[in-house]
Amino acid sequence: MIEEFTLSEYIDHHPGLAMDSRDVEAVRRAYDLIAAESVVAAPFDPPQVAAATGRAGKQEIENTIYFFARAAEIYDEGTGNHTRRVNEYSYFLAQTVGMDPAFCDEIHYSAQLHDLGKISVDPVVLGKAGPLSDSERQEMDNHTIYGHRILIQSPQLAMAAEIALNHHEKWDGTGYPNALRGENIPLSARITQLADIYDALRTARPYKPAFVHEMARGIILSGDARIDSAGHFDPILVEAFSDTHADFDRIWRELSDG
Ligand SMILES: [Fe+2]
Ligand SMILES: [Fe+2]
Repeated sequence: MIEEFTLSEYIDHHPGLAMDSRDVEAVRRAYDLIAAESVVAAPFDPPQVAAATGRAGKQEIENTIYFFARAAEIYDEGTGNHTRRVNEYSYFLAQTVGMDPAFCDEIHYSAQLHDLGKISVDPVVLGKAGPLSDSERQEMDNHTIYGHRILIQSPQLAMAAEIALNHHEKWDGTGYPNALRGENIPLSARITQLADIYDALRTARPYKPAFVHEMARGIILSGDARIDSAGHFDPILVEAFSDTHADFDRIWRELSDG
């Protein structure tokens, strides 16, 4: 797929392109990385996107999603199948709370793009190992704004743009970038946020070990020192998770990195 895609093709198909030069540079860098086949094995299923968008044959949007999915995967702090698992948990959770098939299909390929904006974060800040200064932290947090700015160029990526912008908002209004509260946060982003955090809990990160399912479940339901469950999550989603948590563990196992 990727051989058929060129950056100029992407730009040609987005005549209203308002990406600033920083984003264009970031997309170019990501493209070079992917073209070099340097980091990940091909994990993505373009026919799934074709079916979900109802636009089979619209090669350019499939290519765009494929390209961004690979870019998001490379730049996400998790490695391996993190972004694919976030797609699957989000799809499952959307179905569990009774969303219609069009919504469920759209979130199924959009959730994986939540951290795409990291391609536009200053590489020095993104790669910094130690603690971040206030301005560096702000630059990191701006991945939400950068991702939205890139994805909003495509109507088919409207939900992905919404998720990118809002996946760090919290139910109690203490999140970023806009401190939205409760149902003012788009449902797609509330779902992806819970999915992303569950997967982060299951995965070893520089600041924490990997937790078993029971531990991750306990933190989503009741919180811990870092995560205030009631403050973070939509209570309806926590309830749905509580009823179906074994399926999250199933998805984790089916798409494990091992
Ligand atoms: Fe993020
Ligand atoms: Fe993530």
